Amino acid sequence: MENILLITCFLYVSADTHTLQYLYTAVTPGLTDFPEFTAVGLLDGEQFMFYSSNNRSLIIKDSIKKTNSETYWRRETEDMRGNQDIFTNTFTTAMKEFHHRTGVHTLQRMFGCERDDDDDVTTRGYDQYGYDGEDFISLNLTTGTWTAVKPQAVTIKHTWESKGSNKYWKNFLEGDCIDLLKKYTSYSRDTLNRKVRPEVSVFQKHSPSPEVVCHATGFFPKPLNITWQKDGEDVHEDVELRETLPNQDGSFQKRSILKVSSTKLQKYTYTCVVQHSSLEKELVREVPKGPNKLEL
Ligand SMILES: *[C@@H]1O[C@H](CO)[C@@H](O)[C@H](O)[C@H]1NC(C)=O
Ligand SMILES: *[C@@H]1O[C@H](CO)[C@@H](O)[C@H](O)[C@H]1NC(C)=O
Repeated sequence: MENILLITCFLYVSADTHTLQYLYTAVTPGLTDFPEFTAVGLLDGEQFMFYSSNNRSLIIKDSIKKTNSETYWRRETEDMRGNQDIFTNTFTTAMKEFHHRTGVHTLQRMFGCERDDDDDVTTRGYDQYGYDGEDFISLNLTTGTWTAVKPQAVTIKHTWESKGSNKYWKNFLEGDCIDLLKKYTSYSRDTLNRKVRPEVSVFQKHSPSPEVVCHATGFFPKPLNITWQKDGEDVHEDVELRETLPNQDGSFQKRSILKVSSTKLQKYTYTCVVQHSSLEKELVREVPKGPNKLEL
């Protein structure tokens, strides 16, 4: 299996260059643990999509899934099943051309597009196939024709060109691929730059020992400070700061617990102070003095 993933791609990506890339792999079925066909999608080098012939379903990262409708992803799943059939047919043809009837063989395809943030004109695309780890056939986007790198790819080139697949993929790489890339990157930028204010509540608990909880939730991004004050002075003792936890919707929650007797609570004014990048100034919540108040 050394041949798998021998096609490596060296993309020197600067901060403002974005890339959308797809990798397809077909492996002789039945001889290895690999599924007969797998596809992955990478945005700026990070995987956001996975498909395999094992369950024929498309798995999309949530943040990307949100950019399109359910209908769109259903159609994409159908398209991917179609791509699987076409790709495994090409694999069968290639094996025949190489007179490979036994053993483990692979066909890989790497295609995608790139663009720079500050340049709407210059984009780059590529579509390359490798058989058993060696270049096999590739799309020349200048001429819009397939280049048979190996003589065994000539028949495939002619078949594809008679069906117009060269024009179809050129259009995809120069059009839809760039549109998707823009859509996905602008969305993830908005997602990463967003700021959401925490909701803060302070409440007392009496078991097993008296304590006050300051709970912040629903905030983004993750960094948030919770501190305690007693009559305006910082309190560091008997404080238990809990880990920041993720919420279902991508926001976070965090709590800090202060161990303090009801007598002290009556005597002094305790406050919980929350700092977060979404807040213009720190948020201050006073601990209720009433001994039996459980939640505010
Ligand atoms: C595409 O074809 C043109 C014209 O034949 C050639 O100059 C160019 O090098 C080819 N590009 C690639 C990537 O092979
Ligand atoms: C949390 O406190 C540290 C230390 O005082 C400070 O550098 C940081 O900016 C604070 N974080 C937030 C989100 O306010």
